[in-house]
Amino acid sequence: MESSSAAANGVHSSTGPADSLAAVLKPSDAPSAEAVTVKGVDFDERRDLDGLLESFLTSGFQATNVGLAIEEIRRMLEGREQQQQQHESEEASEREESGDDTDDAGDGGRGHCTIWLAFTSNMISSGLREVFVFLAKHRLIDVIVTSAGGVEEDFIKCMAPTFIGDFTWRGRELRDKGWNRIGNLVVPNDNYCRFEEWLQPILDAMLDEQRTHGTIWTPSKMIDRLGKEIGHEESLYYWCHKNHIPVYCPGLTDGSLGDNLYFHSYRSPGLLLDVIGDIRATNDRAIKCRRSGMIILGGGLSKHHTCNANLMRNGADYAVYINTAQEYDGCDSGARPDEAVSWGKIKSEAKPVKVHGDATVLFPLIVAATFAKHPHANKTAADKGEDAESSREHNHHHNVPLHAVTGC
Ligand SMILES: NC(=O)c1ccc[n+]([C@@H]2O[C@H](COP(=O)([O-])OP(=O)(O)OC[C@H]3O[C@@H](n4cnc5c(N)ncnc54)[C@H](O)[C@@H]3O)[C@@H](O)[C@H]2O)c1
Repeated sequence: MESSSAAANGVHSSTGPADSLAAVLKPSDAPSAEAVTVKGVDFDERRDLDGLLESFLTSGFQATNVGLAIEEIRRMLEGREQQQQQHESEEASEREESGDDTDDAGDGGRGHCTIWLAFTSNMISSGLREVFVFLAKHRLIDVIVTSAGGVEEDFIKCMAPTFIGDFTWRGRELRDKGWNRIGNLVVPNDNYCRFEEWLQPILDAMLDEQRTHGTIWTPSKMIDRLGKEIGHEESLYYWCHKNHIPVYCPGLTDGSLGDNLYFHSYRSPGLLLDVIGDIRATNDRAIKCRRSGMIILGGGLSKHHTCNANLMRNGADYAVYINTAQEYDGCDSGARPDEAVSWGKIKSEAKPVKVHGDATVLFPLIVAATFAKHPHANKTAADKGEDAESSREHNHHHNVPLHAVTGC
């Protein structure tokens, strides 16, 4: 028999406190038929990279977001192969007729879905550069947007290497050695001296062309010119030049390129860069593409510039963000895709994905499961119809470390 005080507290002597029981054992609705069971990789079954990546979707947390990002990029790539072949031949004949050596078709000309790749400067300093080279070399992306360091560090790496260092190395000691630190990477200052020696004569030539031929230089035209001049297969912008992939960088002066332009303005004043020409080219490209997919690594200028261009077409059809930034402070870097939907930068019906984390780990994994599997990535130069002359050009430049560079 229950005591009177126990009964008053809702205690049932044989089953425990009734309210607690009700709270703990609350019945649940049945999951929907589409509900996915959480399941991670089984290393007894699969030990290969594909097996691991396939398990991510059902693993939960950021692993699931990586899986969703892989699915979103596969949607961007759908139909690209057939379209690529068709448009490459159309483009080639159009350019031949017009004598134009740039690709202004608006949709990148190549794919059913134009793929925008945006990244921050530090990523070119990291090993992500080689991943980007792979994408540009195989024409798997159509437009690049980056910040100034993301341009110059690519060229500088052709002149001298960047080294693995340590996050904890002390600034004062590094300064004494003339070693500049980017996270746990180190770039000797001599590398920038070499860059300056290489770049200044090119700036002289650009100024000369501006004066004698009326050339109007935009940041993207300058990057294309530098990609041509570097002539080095390890360079991202060499491949962008060769494959007519435009590179937009509205903040081109915020880095070593800006230092060089500053010094050049004293040595030989007069060189102009037209940012309005580029904003028109960037936005026109967004407007003209049939479908648009954005892959945005990191935040800042590159992220916003890409999203803003896609506002011009009332939103991108696909979007993948990978970044470490959070939204609680209202910054654009940390804004989730849904914020971009509110601005019309991503379409309401899109299924955008944000993966939280370091792109140096996440993006190569995502590329391994998507772009690296694309048939176009596995074609040889001969399959793609590259002529003997361009192959000779590659061989000539490969392993030729810039004869103009003499060191600091
Ligand atoms: N860091 C460099 O290597 C370097 C070199 C020269 C010039 N700069 C200049 O500094 C300015 C600021 O650089 P920025 O706009 O390129 O970006 P940033 O360095 O300001 O980064 C913006 C955001 O991107 C995210 N992010 C950066 N690295 C990431 C990573 N590995 N993985 C995931 N998310 C990451 C972070 O959330 C970060 O807050 C630019 O104008 C640039 O030209 C930078």
